[in-house]
Amino acid sequence: MTSTSPPFSPSLPLQVAIDGPAGAGKSTVARLVARALNLTYVDTGAMYRALAWSVLAHSIAPEDASAVCRLAQSLVIVLEDAADGVRVLADGQDITPRIRTPEISRLTSPLSALPCVRTRMVALQQAMAARQGVVMEGRDIGTVVLPHAPVKVFLTASPAARAARRHAELAARGVRYSLADLEREIRERDTRDATRDTSPLAAAPDAVLIDSDSLTAEQVADRILALARTIPASASAAWPRSELPALAS
Ligand code: DC
Repeated sequence: MTSTSPPFSPSLPLQVAIDGPAGAGKSTVARLVARALNLTYVDTGAMYRALAWSVLAHSIAPEDASAVCRLAQSLVIVLEDAADGVRVLADGQDITPRIRTPEISRLTSPLSALPCVRTRMVALQQAMAARQGVVMEGRDIGTVVLPHAPVKVFLTASPAARAARRHAELAARGVRYSLADLEREIRERDTRDATRDTSPLAAAPDAVLIDSDSLTAEQVADRILALARTIPASASAAWPRSELPALAS
């Protein structure tokens, strides 16, 4: 992807929605797209993870839905841009390195199925998108959070490829975890995320499906940038499409 394009400043907050299951490569791709379009990257999974971490930190029983709901309502979650990615603050505490563990992954999935948790997170995410142009990634962005986003992508990959990606990410951070266990957990999490009653993981009818199995993150990002270039004028009347960066060859 080219890095020589001038900064892009949309006159309307542009919304790029990227959904898909765990390990499909959403975060890397979303960061590349956000950088190319000079938009704010919002990792909504980190928000649900921050809540799960705080539930543990406050010794709240995950089954105690009303205590979880109260915490979700009061918890101040801040996502900050950092040179090495996004920093996640919960009530002012930097918890970035602590939310990407298998334990937090396991706890986040059932908590994110609680309607009160979703209502709160969706409201926070919509408020962020109202203030600034965003590339937002998650499970329900194109369907619930930003249903009018002019660019919607559903990114998939086979469970084996996704487990291999997560395995490499964990290994890079010095976390040893069995590949087979990761793939099993990814399949279980997919099923839970896709079958919950509130905002199940699903592609929006107007989302473009991209299978990332045989594509690099840069190639996926380029496809999304290509989509952004085709936004009909009616979907973003004041958005200067001509200023979009050129695609990589
Ligand atoms: O993308 P991730 O692995 O960091 O997401 C962590 C969990 O949060 C995962 O179980 C799905 C859930 N999630 C969600 O329900 N809705 C979102 N918009 C983002 C994540």
